[in-house]
Amino acid sequence: MVGSAQQLSGRHVLLGVSGGIAAYKAAALARELVKGGASVQVILTSGATQFVGAATFAGLTGRPAHTGVFDDAHQIHHVRLAREADIAVFAPATANLIAKFAAGLADDLVSSTFTCLTCPVVVAPAMHTEMWSHPATQDNIATLVRRGVLVVGPEEGELAGGDVGPGRLVEPATIVAAMAAALRPQGPLASRRVVVTAGGTREPIDPVRFIGNRSSGKMGYALAAECARRGANVELVSGPTWLLEPAGVTIHHVETALQMRDAVLKLAADADVVVKAAAVADFRPAVYHQQKIKKEHVELGHVELERNPDILAELGAARRRRQSDGGPPAPLLVGFAAETDLEEERGRDKLHRKGLDLIVVNRVDMADAGFNVDTNRALLLGVDGLRTEVPLTTKAELAAVVCDQIEALLVRRQRQS
Ligand code: PMT
Repeated sequence: MVGSAQQLSGRHVLLGVSGGIAAYKAAALARELVKGGASVQVILTSGATQFVGAATFAGLTGRPAHTGVFDDAHQIHHVRLAREADIAVFAPATANLIAKFAAGLADDLVSSTFTCLTCPVVVAPAMHTEMWSHPATQDNIATLVRRGVLVVGPEEGELAGGDVGPGRLVEPATIVAAMAAALRPQGPLASRRVVVTAGGTREPIDPVRFIGNRSSGKMGYALAAECARRGANVELVSGPTWLLEPAGVTIHHVETALQMRDAVLKLAADADVVVKAAAVADFRPAVYHQQKIKKEHVELGHVELERNPDILAELGAARRRRQSDGGPPAPLLVGFAAETDLEEERGRDKLHRKGLDLIVVNRVDMADAGFNVDTNRALLLGVDGLRTEVPLTTKAELAAVVCDQIEALLVRRQRQS
């Protein structure tokens, strides 16, 4: 149980309890959620208080358990409780409570709060077999499921009064697991393998000096964080940066363009999406000096350069080959273009020349966009004709816009396959 409960760590859980003998199990549920690191706010119907008192829940959760809409009327209690919740769970949910939820009745704190919820909702019914089997209850359950409520249980077993049959509240562990599943992102990026590159590469001249650029990694890290937030398995290939690693991503540190190429090509082999926000050096010194070059031995202006491979263009070419050979689907390719002028023209050229699905063109000659700032402005160009301008915004918000487009492309690709 702790495994699932820990997935709810740091989450605000609203636990609604209604009047049935199984209300005692709601106390165990509250305890497990708190042990797993969630903050739990309990609300009770008046029926629930006949079985377990508010003081029990207050003791378990460290917060007062509420029972009435007018407990705190000036704060519009039910609206606030619903807004604070990351997830709501109703356990046990009686036939009466389920009927109220389905009908949209709001005549007490629990039902009023339900009508205000916008977070994921889990309902765990518990009642006698006859009540559970009644067509009205079954219709009400079907209505809730159709509206996106996750219904867990009931199970078969011993019921109040010694009867046996379907209607028993599932165990707290099962409810917690259902809650963890309800919170897991469900969108098109969920469980996809995404490779993101970030930062600039450094091309060493000798042990002290290198050719580099001004990329901080902020744009790529914002993209990696957003993909991870949407449930993707993110492999972040990062050039040198001072940034904190985003939570929930696997990081691969590289320094040079050649190292980045090795890492990206390996990871791209079974990726669904590759997003290249890194500023890869186009050239590297032709010769690496093992010893520090002495000032008196170097003629400035004479570092001979050779061209680095274009990683993205290589991925694009490999994809074209795979497509013409009828091979397995290659990853979606998303590039960035750092431009100082003619951004649309140059962006379109890179989109087609490198064989990409999407390119994010950003200006790098403005103080509030491009390199090493928290904001950006961009033009998104898609091979499908997409053209979206994103005015000045944070890199986190731009990352969300880019991820929306990636998700749309994934959905389209799935429909076509
Ligand atoms: O890191 P920040 O400080 O937040 O700055 C963000 C950024 C400005 C670096 C970022 O938003 C950005 O524009 N990244 C791409 C920079 C770049 O190299 O652009 P380009 O137009 O030279 O290259 C086009 C695309 O080809 C890029 O996706 C690049 O990763 C890729 N490329 C380029 C050269 C090369 N040898 N291999 C590549 O894969």
